[in-house]
Amino acid sequence: MKKRWWKECVVYQIYPRSFCDSNGDGIGDIKGITSKMDYLKELGIDVIWLSPVYQSPNDDNGYDISDYQAIMEEFGTMEDFDEMLAAAHARGIRLVMDLVVNHTSDEHAWFAESRKSPDNPYRDYYIWRPGKDGGAPNNWGSCFSGSAWEYDGATDMYYLHLFSRKQPDLNWDNPVVRDEVFGMMNWWIDKGVDGFRMDVISLISKPAQFKDGVPGANGYAGFEETANGPHVHEYLQEMRKKVLNRADTITVGECSGVTVEEARKYANSDETELNMVFQFEHMDVDAGEKGKWTDRRADLRDLKAVLTKWQKALEDAAWNSLYWENHDQPRSVSRFGDDGTYRETSAKMLATCLYMMQGTPYIYQGQELGMTNVPFAGIEEFRDIESVNAYHELTGQGVFSEEEMLRYLRCKSRDNARTPFQWSAEENAGFTTGTPWIMVNPNYTKINAEEQRGRETSVFHYFRKLIRLRKENEVIVYGTYDLLLPESEEIYAYTRTLGDEKLLVACNFTAKEVSFDMPEEFLGGEILIGNYEDAEIEKNMKLRPYEAAVVNR
Ligand code: GLC
Ligand code: CA
Repeated sequence: MKKRWWKECVVYQIYPRSFCDSNGDGIGDIKGITSKMDYLKELGIDVIWLSPVYQSPNDDNGYDISDYQAIMEEFGTMEDFDEMLAAAHARGIRLVMDLVVNHTSDEHAWFAESRKSPDNPYRDYYIWRPGKDGGAPNNWGSCFSGSAWEYDGATDMYYLHLFSRKQPDLNWDNPVVRDEVFGMMNWWIDKGVDGFRMDVISLISKPAQFKDGVPGANGYAGFEETANGPHVHEYLQEMRKKVLNRADTITVGECSGVTVEEARKYANSDETELNMVFQFEHMDVDAGEKGKWTDRRADLRDLKAVLTKWQKALEDAAWNSLYWENHDQPRSVSRFGDDGTYRETSAKMLATCLYMMQGTPYIYQGQELGMTNVPFAGIEEFRDIESVNAYHELTGQGVFSEEEMLRYLRCKSRDNARTPFQWSAEENAGFTTGTPWIMVNPNYTKINAEEQRGRETSVFHYFRKLIRLRKENEVIVYGTYDLLLPESEEIYAYTRTLGDEKLLVACNFTAKEVSFDMPEEFLGGEILIGNYEDAEIEKNMKLRPYEAAVVNR
């Protein structure tokens, strides 16, 4: 296997709006991030992935960009950005930008031109179609509710938006659009950024024909219709040559609808496209009959089957990314662990279970503290466009009652991950001196960075140790993964092997004590890391509630 720095690093995602507010307006900003650079250094991460900081009307918190070469005013200036980049680099930390180029904002200058007339030079930057039978061109739905088509009176045509109507999709089949995007990316590379996380990059190549798809719970067809389209690999290979190969970049594609077969192309080890992808299958194991809106808990056997499939299918052929959380997912300790009695223990167990696998680890801000889902009281406390629209659409159609939908939002809403980072027990968790743009999780008085940095047994210090171990043990990065006990509903156990080196990872996913037969070859071994201080290796081992142990032969 080829050794690469981007396989050995640990990435930390920052959601700037909620990380640290430097000027008391209630909104996190770039100066705030710069002020916390030493915290990130202390944690030990190597790369920051910065969610969008570009100019944006914020219909989708920066994922709707109106100028790719300007900084959002609320977040600061280009000078602040340069200062942050220098502060990161001075500490040996690389910076990855979020690249949102499946769509722009409808307030982008290109779209303002495009909508003017069918012969405007920018018309083909976007996807325009005439209506059909007095309605939209087809039954595709937007990820944020309703049709994916918006009627525009100026030219009596519809434009495609897979996300909100303020996020029109770019037409990647137009070579001029590709050159615009590549030019913009090169501008950032020349500035010194170290790579890109590519937003819904699997959706950029639309099918040749816009046929109706199979309708889901809300009556519209999902984005799967447009995932992994006919030219997506061609376009990424072009990007690789014209942009990515100009520097020693790290790239990860957010690939909705990706299969292992497709991932072996996107993240192929011949290195002609991207370094790795974010897949979604392990985020779908707790979906319900009507998709993501449910309070169903995952069956551990399903979770193991999915993660193991990805570990084995990408072995030698591609490279995995490892994540439980990001700004689009609820908090993992609430979702797969226990955010009550065993919050700290289960947060550590989940980190052990995932980050000991093969792939590049991604930590989402606050995950290293075991931050939890949020007790939102009512719909008025949510800010996320997906959550608010889904609430109105699905309760309006009678798919769910209001109470039911609120319960599902408390489990699954993206806002669970978007409340302010909990720095301290001070007012507003030390995030702002003003009024935060979204509520603070009231548990900040107990769960916060200041308390955890000062306590050796905290989740924070456990993450530091996990990160350090990767640097000291090649087997954690490059070893082969093999699952044990596929049928167990309680234990997730696997081995990692590299030459003579072999590790065993055993994790109890329940609040009960569970027996585990230690394989013979590990009986004389030692515990590399675990979440119970006094663990001992025994033939008939009892794994305590949410216990995790990594054993070295
Ligand atoms: C990605 C982003 C998400 C955003 C969407 C549209 O899934 O992670 O936050 O809403 O794309 O850009
Ligand atoms: Ca601010």
